[in-house]
Amino acid sequence: ATPSGPYDAVIIGGGPGGYVAAIKAAQLGLKTACIEKRGSLGGTCLNVGCIPSKAMLNNSHIYHQTKHDIQKRGIDVSGVSLNLPQMLKAKDQSVTGLTKGIETLFKQNKVDYIKGAASFISPTRISVQLLEGGETEVEAKNVIIATGSEVAPFPGGAIEIDEQQIVSSTGALELQEVPKKMVVIGGGIIGLEMGSVWSRLGAEVTVVEFLGAIGGAGIDEEVAKQFQKTLAKQGLKFKLNTKVLSADKQDGKVIIKTQSAKGDKEETLDADVVLVAVGRRPYTEGLNLDAAGIEKDNKGRIVIDDQFNTSVKNIKCIGDVTFGPMLAHKAEEEGIAAVEYIHSGHGHVNYNGIPSVVYTHPEVAWVGKTEQELKAAGVKYNVGKFPFAANSRAKTNLDSEGFVKFLSEAETDKILGVHIIGPNAGEMISEGVLAMEYGASSEDIARTTHAHPTLSEAFKEAAMAAYGKPIHF
Ligand code: FAD
Ligand code: NAI
Repeated sequence: ATPSGPYDAVIIGGGPGGYVAAIKAAQLGLKTACIEKRGSLGGTCLNVGCIPSKAMLNNSHIYHQTKHDIQKRGIDVSGVSLNLPQMLKAKDQSVTGLTKGIETLFKQNKVDYIKGAASFISPTRISVQLLEGGETEVEAKNVIIATGSEVAPFPGGAIEIDEQQIVSSTGALELQEVPKKMVVIGGGIIGLEMGSVWSRLGAEVTVVEFLGAIGGAGIDEEVAKQFQKTLAKQGLKFKLNTKVLSADKQDGKVIIKTQSAKGDKEETLDADVVLVAVGRRPYTEGLNLDAAGIEKDNKGRIVIDDQFNTSVKNIKCIGDVTFGPMLAHKAEEEGIAAVEYIHSGHGHVNYNGIPSVVYTHPEVAWVGKTEQELKAAGVKYNVGKFPFAANSRAKTNLDSEGFVKFLSEAETDKILGVHIIGPNAGEMISEGVLAMEYGASSEDIARTTHAHPTLSEAFKEAAMAAYGKPIHF
C-alpha cells in the first residue's frame, strides 16, 4: 500500500497521553496523526476509567446522602430509591459526551484520526488494521507510543475475570444489579473508589488487602489510617495483611480463599460479586515492537530516557505504558513535554509535582513526599496539621471529617509535601502543587489571603501550623 503521510508526528493511542500529545503537536504546526483502535478517543480514562468511575462516585454519593444524611439538613424526602439503569445511563452519557468532544478537538486542530490498530513495520513505517476493515500504512518522521495499560490479571491465573460475577474495574462500572455481598481484592485506588460506589448503593463490601494499610502506593501512613477509619464508618469492612489465594464460582456465589500475610491463617469468604483490583500493567500487544527494535523492561514497560526517547531514535513513549504513576494527568504532561522535545528540543515534567487523588467521600489527595519517605531519607521536617472540624465552612456544610497536613523542611520551611483527607481535597491539592512548583514555603501560604468562609482556609491554617501556630485550633 502507498503509505499516508509522511507525518511529522504519529501518535499511537488516543488516551489522555496520546490525544493531548496529538493536539499539542498539531498546535505547534506539526503534521499529525493519531491512531486509536478502540473506536472512541479518550483511552482507558474516558471510556472505562476516570470519567465513568467519577460519574458513579458522584451520583452514588448524592443517592447515599439523600437517603441517609439529608433529614438533619432540614430536608424531608420520602420514597428515595435507586434507579440503577438511569445511573448507568447518566454515566454512559458523560463518557460519550466527552469522547465525542475530543473528536471535535481533533477536527478543530487538524489532527488526522486513524481508526485502527497500529503495528510497527519499521521505525518510520506503521501498518494499521482499520476498524472498518482492510489495512493502511502510515509513514512517520517521529512516533510517540501512548498505548496505555490494561487490567493486570490475578497472578498465576488463579482467578478468572468474567466481567459478570468476577469483575475488573470495567465490569464493576457495568453491574446491572447491586450485589448483596461484594468482595474487593486489593485496597488500592480502584478497590476503594469502586468499593465505595457499591457500598453506597447498598452492597455489603469487604476489602481484602495484602499490605497493612489501604490507599495504594504513595499515601501518607497517617492519612491511610484516618482514611480506613472513615470508610469503615461508612460501612466498608477491611481485612488487611491478608492475601487472596483464589476465587471460584460455586452455586451462584463466589468462594474466596484468603491467607494471612504471614501465612499462618486461612479463611473462606463468599460473595455475589468479586472485584479484582490488584493493579494494571503496560499494554503493548500487537504493536510489533521488535520490528522497530524497541526495548521493554521485565515489567513490560517500554524503556525510555529522561527525554521520553525509547531505544529507537525517532520513537518516544509516554503514559501508563512506560515508567511512573499510572495517572491521566501524568500521561497528559508527558504528552506535551514529548511533543515539545520533538518540536524544539526541550520539554519538562516535574515528577515531584504530580498529585494523586482518591475520589471517595471525603476525598484523599496528596503531592510530594510522605512523612515516612522523609524519615527514611533522614530529612528534618516540620508537620503542620489542621482538622476540618475546626474549619467554619466544613462545619456549616456538615461535612467536616479529615485534615490538611503540611510537611516542610525544618531548616528552610520549604514545602516538601501536602496531604489532605477531607471535602474537596482533590480540588484543594492544586494549591499545594502550585506552591511546590514555585518553591514556596509554608509561611508563603500562611501569609496568602484565603477567602472566608472556605474550606481552603484549612489549607492556610495547616501551613500556619507548619511554621508557627494556627489561629482556630
Ligand atoms: P490509555 O488511556 O490506556 O490509552 C491508551 C489507548 O491506546 C487506548 O485507548 C488503546 O485502545 C489504544 N491502543 C493501544 N494499543 C494500540 C494500538 N496498537 N493501536 C492503536 N491504538 C492502541 N487516572 C487519573 O488520573 N484519575 C482518575 O480518576 C483515574 N481513575 C481511573 C479509574 C479506573 C477504573 C481506571 C482503570 C483507571 C483510572 N485512572 C485514573 C488511570 C488512567 O485511566 C490512566 O492513567 C490513563 O488513562 C493513562 O493514559 P494513557 O494515554 O497512557 O493510556
Ligand atoms: P493499586 O496498585 O493501586 O492497588 C492494588 C492493591 O492490591 C495493592 O494495595 C496491593 O497490595 C493489593 N493486592 C495485590 N495482590 C493482592 C492479593 N492477592 N490479595 C490482596 N491484595 C492484593 O492498583 P489498582 O487499585 O488496581 O489501580 C490501578 C491503577 O489505576 C493505579 O495505579 C492508579 O494509578 C490508577 N487509578 C487511579 C485513580 C485515581 O487517580 N483516582 C482511580 C483508579 C485507578
